[in-house]
Amino acid sequence: MTTLITNIQQLVNARETSALLRGKALANLPCIEDAFVLIEDGIIADYGAMFELELKVPQLPKHVIDAAGQFVLPTWCDSHTHLVFAASRENEFIDKIKGMSYAEIAAKGGGIINSAAKLNETSEDELFNSAWRRLEEVSKMGTGAIEIKSGYGLTVEGELKMLRVIRKLKERSKLSIKATFLGAHTYPLAYKEDHKGYIDCIINEMLPTIAKEKLADYIDVFCETGFFSPEEMETICKAGMSYGLKPKLHVNQMNSIGGIESAIKLNALSVDHLETMTDSDVKLLSGSGVIGTLLPTAAFFLRMQYQPARQLIDNNCAIALASDYNPGSSPSGNMNFVVALSCIQMKMLPEEAINAATLNGAYAMDIGNELGSITIGKKGNLIFIRPIPSIAYIPYSFGSDLIDKVMINGEFV
Ligand code: NIG
Ligand code: FE
Repeated sequence: MTTLITNIQQLVNARETSALLRGKALANLPCIEDAFVLIEDGIIADYGAMFELELKVPQLPKHVIDAAGQFVLPTWCDSHTHLVFAASRENEFIDKIKGMSYAEIAAKGGGIINSAAKLNETSEDELFNSAWRRLEEVSKMGTGAIEIKSGYGLTVEGELKMLRVIRKLKERSKLSIKATFLGAHTYPLAYKEDHKGYIDCIINEMLPTIAKEKLADYIDVFCETGFFSPEEMETICKAGMSYGLKPKLHVNQMNSIGGIESAIKLNALSVDHLETMTDSDVKLLSGSGVIGTLLPTAAFFLRMQYQPARQLIDNNCAIALASDYNPGSSPSGNMNFVVALSCIQMKMLPEEAINAATLNGAYAMDIGNELGSITIGKKGNLIFIRPIPSIAYIPYSFGSDLIDKVMINGEFV
């Protein structure tokens, strides 16, 4: 099917060619006023200013959508989520309000361990159904591509079950989905005193089946004090890499313990969280090809310091924004709020935030050639925004629902 969208007040992030954006380049958000987009069989076939329409599209298709007054953006590319989980954790939310810390909650069997216990009791079908509802929810909020991690199984069966749920989501959803194996999310109770035993289980029992069934695209480790050390992360990632899984890693959330350095050595696709960065961590990241993925809603929800977005951008780093949607540290997958928060609390410019949540998010999932900008040959994934005065109004009016409709592969969701 061919669809022509006309009279777009502003077509946002329209690029002839695209590449990962670093430093100053993040502030450049190319837009076309009074524009059109032509979509053929789900793919962007052409775009331009309305005055070029006759020349570029001499034969108008039957299906024309008038987007007068609207802004059109590429859909959000949410490159870090834990969308598959069995139950919410609002009891811990109350504990936190009363003064307990994230680490204290984890120490008394809450946190990831709590989620793992519930997940292992929940059937694959139930997990699929609840994850499907969340996927539908975030797609209506403008997310068109998403990365989803395992990591709430922590047993061979539990981790495989999660990854099979993600595979089923990939098969049934129109969204672009990437799967990440996060067996090394924490040490399960059975291996509390036997870290080597659990790492052996990840390497010798989980990974071979995951590779055989092609259940994952990436491998992740929670590198943190009390969780996995940089050395343990390197051991686990090297085993994953021997099966072709590239590392996408949780580092520097609470402490800087050498995770950035190890991630660079491993040639990771991204290092995610980054609430706690030393000057030397920033320098290292900026000199590397690794993308820094900032998760401001996790810092917001846990009342932690925000990621040093300004320092990272000013030091020429490539950064992406993601939601970290999970029941413990970010029970929301709303990328509109992620973008707003990054401007309000991390002083990112609206242009920088939109680039980080679209194009760089796509690169942080290795799909920069398919998504993240309005570029010929990329997928027709678009957000239609109700009339607004300017781009800056999107993060400025945080909490307002500005989305009129969302298109995935050329079709409205
Ligand atoms: O990205 N920090 C590690 N993992 C998750 C939270 C997991 C949880 O609390 O359930 C995160 O924030
Ligand atoms: Fe996470």
